Amino acid sequence: MIDIHSHILPEMDDGSGNIQESIEMARKAVEQGITDIIATPHYIKGKYENDKEKVEEETRKLNQVLDEMDIPLKVWPGQEIRISDVLIDDYDNNKIMGLNASRYILLELPLNHVPRYMERLIYDLQMKRMTPIIAHPERNLEIIKNPQLLKELIWKGAYSQITAGSITGKFGWRTKRFSKFLVHSGLTHFIASDSHNVGNRGFQIREANKIIEKSFGKDAVNGFKENAENVLYGKRVKELLFH
Ligand SMILES: [Fe+2]
Repeated sequence: MIDIHSHILPEMDDGSGNIQESIEMARKAVEQGITDIIATPHYIKGKYENDKEKVEEETRKLNQVLDEMDIPLKVWPGQEIRISDVLIDDYDNNKIMGLNASRYILLELPLNHVPRYMERLIYDLQMKRMTPIIAHPERNLEIIKNPQLLKELIWKGAYSQITAGSITGKFGWRTKRFSKFLVHSGLTHFIASDSHNVGNRGFQIREANKIIEKSFGKDAVNGFKENAENVLYGKRVKELLFH
């Protein structure tokens, strides 16, 4: 199984605090049945400026440690990029990258609203042959109030990724209900851990998959798994519709 969103690299952001914690996280990931994980440290201007080069270097180092310790997990480089009006400049300047250098780029919205320049940003990225994946839309306050906003972004060609913990109820029953609504409406394409540590922000993908299987069937679980694989290998992502 592949996890396309994690903060497993040490000392980059509010995720893993040190290499020991990264190793523990890797062990937990393996327990979940994860074989490949994309490290997506935050890239936020003025806060966490984890550029492409740094992420690639840290990914290489972590893989080396895991290899030496015989932990069967492969880490691939990526970023979770907070949207900004200079995002395209950052792309042009090689500061940001797609997930495992694919055309799929993981974007983070502010928590409380969807900036009006978002549609333009999707278009500008598409002009660069990039496809945005919107991270955890189920936690954006404006999308919760008006899911049509997400639908419009998806019509424009974006994909979306729900956090496993949102499905399991970690962020409350409202988030859980809304996440299931997004799956049911075909408004999401990926389930990922967004794991930050071995404590309260762990993996939960296996638990989320059980709930998805119960509500939407085995095909739904397989669809999400295949899409994560398609991202890692730069293949075409599938639309998913389950009723
Ligand atoms: Fe994240």
